[in-house]
Amino acid sequence: MSLFSPIQLRSLTLKNRIAVSPMQQYSAKNGVPGNWHLVHLGSRAVGGAGLILTECTAVSPEGLATLNDVGIWNDEQKNAWKNIVDFVHEQDAKIGIQLWHSGGKGSLKHPNERMKPLSEEEGGWTVKSSSARDFNGVFAEELTIPEIHELKVKFVQAAFRAVDAGFDTIELHAGHGYLFHQFYSAVINKRHDEYGGSFENRIRFLVETVQEIRKAIPESMPLLVRISAVDYIESEEAWTLEDSIALSEILKENGVDFITASGGGFTNVSKDRVFPGYQVPFAKAIKEQTGILTGAVGMITEAQQANDIISNEEADLIIIAREHLRDPYFAIHSAKELDIETEIPWQYKRAF
Ligand SMILES: Cc1cc2nc3c(=O)[nH]c(=O)nc-3n(C[C@H](O)[C@H](O)[C@H](O)COP(=O)(O)O)c2cc1C
Repeated sequence: MSLFSPIQLRSLTLKNRIAVSPMQQYSAKNGVPGNWHLVHLGSRAVGGAGLILTECTAVSPEGLATLNDVGIWNDEQKNAWKNIVDFVHEQDAKIGIQLWHSGGKGSLKHPNERMKPLSEEEGGWTVKSSSARDFNGVFAEELTIPEIHELKVKFVQAAFRAVDAGFDTIELHAGHGYLFHQFYSAVINKRHDEYGGSFENRIRFLVETVQEIRKAIPESMPLLVRISAVDYIESEEAWTLEDSIALSEILKENGVDFITASGGGFTNVSKDRVFPGYQVPFAKAIKEQTGILTGAVGMITEAQQANDIISNEEADLIIIAREHLRDPYFAIHSAKELDIETEIPWQYKRAF
């Protein structure tokens, strides 16, 4: 098995094991992806990656982090995505949408303005989370149970639009301190009802959303979930790898096909915990313990390193973020380096 062995997820075949990791571009208006997104995602499809994942895409306006994130809660957004999906397909690549709600991590300014809280005059909104608390200067209110049910409906509506737009797969963003993670981690979730307290109660919102989405999308379409495998917080309340393994098993029973094992999201991760391939052991443990397919993400930057992870069966897909910003042609370059044949767009053949 190599980085360039195809992989099957339900009826979806990826031509290789290289995926472009979701990366917020903070370049949209009204949640509509534009020319930047077409060129950004399209270039990486031209560059040979088997799977392109969109940046986190809000299921409702309140699910945005900043006013420049993308969404898929209306038809204008859906049609704009369709244009990008079609281009990626023309490049013989596949594309998945990362559906998302920021929860308490919303109502923020653009990164160029250091993501400070937005005032009401600037378009800020009331953010809601599993529990009432302060998220770096933005106060979140606790979601009521009817509001939790409404949110599941928003995810399903977004999933319907994603299918309509022609996406090959859907990834739920359940990591990085965003809404699902705000429910399953006891660091944030202090509820006393059926959505808080025990492990089963804290994962309920995610599991129920998965169940609803699974019913809404075609049987043939794979469903992916990105989790934070650990919180990277020293606390008895912190989410652990063992919790992630138990959650992955339950997600698998509910029709999830693939887990991306990321980490953190509530605090900055200390530098000594971040090194090449630092999250690969999470993907490996979840894969080994549950049998679900997994993706490894985090400081994977070299062809040989990526190929070794696949050939050692530590993960099934290599998900690369920043190296794809440095090199949109990472996949083609990796094939050359590993001396493996791969398709090159005919327009560019004279250069490779
Ligand atoms: C500019 C940028 C934007 C990101 N946006 C997202 C996002 O929308 N969704 C997500 O799950 N992760 C996001 N991430 C995290 C990456 O997908 C990835 O998990 C992380 O950068 C580690 O991988 P790397 O070492 O290959 O960059 C982002 C990372 C970067 C650098």
